[in-house]
Amino acid sequence: MKSSISIVVIFVMIHIGQIFAACKKDNGLSEDLVNLLCRSRKHQTQIEGFTRKTLPAFTASLTATKALGAREVIKFDKVWLNTGDIYNPSTGVFTVPMDGLYLVSSSLMSVKGKHLHCHMWKNGQSNVGAFGTGWSQGTLNAVMNLTKGDILSIRHNNGSGEDVYGGHWSMFSAYLISE
Ligand SMILES: *[C@@H]1O[C@H](CO)[C@@H](O)[C@H](O)[C@H]1NC(C)=O
Ligand SMILES: *[C@@H]1O[C@H](CO)[C@@H](O)[C@H](O)[C@H]1NC(C)=O
Repeated sequence: MKSSISIVVIFVMIHIGQIFAACKKDNGLSEDLVNLLCRSRKHQTQIEGFTRKTLPAFTASLTATKALGAREVIKFDKVWLNTGDIYNPSTGVFTVPMDGLYLVSSSLMSVKGKHLHCHMWKNGQSNVGAFGTGWSQGTLNAVMNLTKGDILSIRHNNGSGEDVYGGHWSMFSAYLISE
């Protein structure tokens, strides 16, 4: 039993390229083996119950450079992707559509000669931050366990006199990793 498994593993390792090619075009490999491998490959790229068209996800970026007030929410106005209409560009708020594990990220660019301090906020509480100085980008990437109805945004810290650079050098994005 053990040795027959090893033989299959060695076979798969040697023939991995042909096997994936066989997912597209049948070339006479054992049909069961090809089906098994094709199915497991497909499974890795698809969360149960979701398709590429329904998986909650958004990406937005900032068109124009903006002077920020204390605690101002950055309204990333250019929407590139908004599956499930989960991001509102007129408020800058991402509303979590269902419980799950999400990746939330943002890159923020500061302008010449100035600092930029921002944090991600969830339901009135700040968490991770990003900092830039001069022409530089600060980034934040957080894997988060979120609950339906949570609201998330990127906000400037206390204080004013800082700017966030536009021209799509600053962005905000999130997607559901798993339920
Ligand atoms: C995620 O959050 C929910 C609600 O707060 C909690 O019930 C659940 O245990 C959390 N799951 C994980 C994996 O932390
Ligand atoms: C920001 O302002 C709030 C209220 O105005 C204050 O409670 C908080 O301590 C300030 N945070 C920092 C880091 O200055």
